[in-house]
Amino acid sequence: MYNLTDREIVLGVSGSIAAYKAADLASKLTQAGVRLDVVLTPAAAKFVTPLTFQSVSGRPAYVDMFDTASGASELHIELARRANALLIAPASATTIARVALGLAEDLVSLTALATRAPIIVCPAMDPQMFEHEATQAHLETLRRRGLHVVGPEEGRLASGHTGPGRMSEVQTIIGALRYVLGKDADLAGRKVVVSAGGTQEPVDPVRYVGNYSSGKMGYALAEAARDRGADTVLVSGPAALPEPYAVRVLPVRQATEMRDAVLAECADADAVIMAAAVADYQPAEAVGQKIKRRQKGLSLSLVRTPDILAEIGRRAGLVKVGFAAESENLLTNARRKLDDKRLDLIVANNVTAEGSGFGSDTNRVTLVDGEGEEELPLMSKYEVACRVLDRVAAALREASPD
Ligand code: CTP
Repeated sequence: MYNLTDREIVLGVSGSIAAYKAADLASKLTQAGVRLDVVLTPAAAKFVTPLTFQSVSGRPAYVDMFDTASGASELHIELARRANALLIAPASATTIARVALGLAEDLVSLTALATRAPIIVCPAMDPQMFEHEATQAHLETLRRRGLHVVGPEEGRLASGHTGPGRMSEVQTIIGALRYVLGKDADLAGRKVVVSAGGTQEPVDPVRYVGNYSSGKMGYALAEAARDRGADTVLVSGPAALPEPYAVRVLPVRQATEMRDAVLAECADADAVIMAAAVADYQPAEAVGQKIKRRQKGLSLSLVRTPDILAEIGRRAGLVKVGFAAESENLLTNARRKLDDKRLDLIVANNVTAEGSGFGSDTNRVTLVDGEGEEELPLMSKYEVACRVLDRVAAALREASPD
């Protein structure tokens, strides 16, 4: 799963209370198929033991750079050489300073100095230390040198203080790693626009016409496009999902807002994938005041929303992908939409089938294009996204072979 499988990642843990979160990070990375080596600074080892990391990664974790018995003294060169990326999480003020100055005083700063792989730094410290001119100058040095600084986030810290200094969430850090590892993949230099979620069409100030879309399929597509190096824009209806790292999220509510955002972003895009469940109708007019309960019944007058995919039209160099959410006559309806909306590909899914459709983490779809149909087995929405992007990448290669 993801572009993390079988990648060699070194996790450098430095002395911050957030070190305990690094154990969760190590566990999630290992579960995602990463071959993880963990090095700790002596200060980090006061917060969490190497054994914790060893237990979750299944490989030795190292602290002492002069431990000849474990071979740790030459280890940093070996780890630095084979790493696909070095992740320093948490990065304390001291470790950030060491990396900025090129001081190799422990296994973390040694590996940082010795590696040529991309480095991701996730600061975690008290706000006073983070905001100090020294720390800010060091972080600036790291950014200028091309290192990726992720976080910190604002919040309440272990010290009781509130402000910037909390290490980013584990999922954000993993998103940053996937982004960094995918930078040169097959969609590098391409712009992909994805729409996600359902739209909400206002009835009055407290009500709307909506649908059950969770946004999961669209968010998975955006992450998968980001993981392959695409410059990714996600036009999202209201969804209770975290913003993916390095994806430009444009929040919208109504179909008309989604149309405006999608059309504007498509002007210079290479591909558009409409996974959103766009409302087909909107109230003819939104009432300015809350509709009262006094009447016995109520009729809503609805008018058609714009068909976004149809409005995009055909443009040479733009690959267009739609979704067909159906409850009957799946393939006939999908083919009709493929033609009517002039698409390159349509992802047909029976929203009433088990394990498919709204809210689920899995999907069972059939890919339909001018050539034929490919029925895919039940798989995660991320895997479905990868299969859709395989088709998009192939269509782009075909359109402009190099
Ligand atoms: N779509 C769109 N604009 C709309 C409605 C749908 O761009 N106003 C897009 C969807 O994002 C999807 C595709 O068109 O990619 C098909 O959507 P679907 O709801 O299955 O089809 P409709 O065109 O709405 O037709 P019907 O509701 O009759 O099935």
